[in-house]
Amino acid sequence: MKIFTRTKEIEEYVLQLRLTGKTTGFVATMGALHQGHLSLIQQAQQANDVVICSIFVNPTQFNDPADLEKYPRPIVADIQKLEQAGCDVLFNPDVSEIYATHEQWHLNIGELEHLLEGKFRPGHYQGVTQVVYKLFNIVKPDTAYFGQKDYQQVMVISKMVQLLNMPVKLVMCPILREPDGLAMSSRNIHLTADDRLHSLILSKTLNWVKDNFNSDKIPEIKAAAEQLINNEPGVELEYFEIVDGDTLHPANQNTKNIVALVAARVGKTRLIDNVIISS
Ligand code: PAJ
Repeated sequence: MKIFTRTKEIEEYVLQLRLTGKTTGFVATMGALHQGHLSLIQQAQQANDVVICSIFVNPTQFNDPADLEKYPRPIVADIQKLEQAGCDVLFNPDVSEIYATHEQWHLNIGELEHLLEGKFRPGHYQGVTQVVYKLFNIVKPDTAYFGQKDYQQVMVISKMVQLLNMPVKLVMCPILREPDGLAMSSRNIHLTADDRLHSLILSKTLNWVKDNFNSDKIPEIKAAAEQLINNEPGVELEYFEIVDGDTLHPANQNTKNIVALVAARVGKTRLIDNVIISS
């Protein structure tokens, strides 16, 4: 695997790939790689000549400095996992390589960035679009792969791509879960043994909602889901929403694409998860 830490160098490398007609698939990550990340690499491998992964813990998307501070950074293990997965290129820049100065700009992609996660993590998606915009400009991939795990992130990035006419195709990949249902996440390592047990209420509730969706009206289903989560010790619900998967506005009986999304603190760890109910 080729490893680049310098923007200029990877830009030259991808230019050569383009000149030789190779297609590129891109997976952006913040490292602490798990099977969920690697599944994106696999999906990219199936459809591209060359797969490029980035590991960059982007400071501008953390609204909580403590969260940024304790974000895991096991770079040696990550490189090993990428090598084993057969990834072709890693871009692993320092912060100074991406942000020359304290940059005070952001893209305005409209209301999508202010709903759900945006309400609880103000500025988060401004940091995400800022870095993904830069990464797309540097890597210039044909196709970029993002996980459904961060459903709203996919919506936000696809809005950015659409508004700015960015020449990249986006693919949303399914959520990888632990055998007991917990969605894989780099933050799961912060869960204590007790938290780990309590965290299962999130995926259980999402499954319950999917399985029982037609048994009652949406407000009743949502209230029952909230109650299930609120009854779980050690879990503090931030939101449980059943939305139109395109607009992220509350769904109604006529909505075609329906997604249920949840965010909760389990002990000290903030977790998110979701399920597509219909599409
Ligand atoms: P990170 O949380 O490292 O996630 C990188 C990619 O892996 C995202 O597209 C995410 O949705 C996907 N992913 C995470 N857990 C997954 C799982 N259990 N199954 C499938 N895919 C999963 O998301 C980010 O980084 C950052 O916001 C980033 C886009 C890199 C911008 O900084």
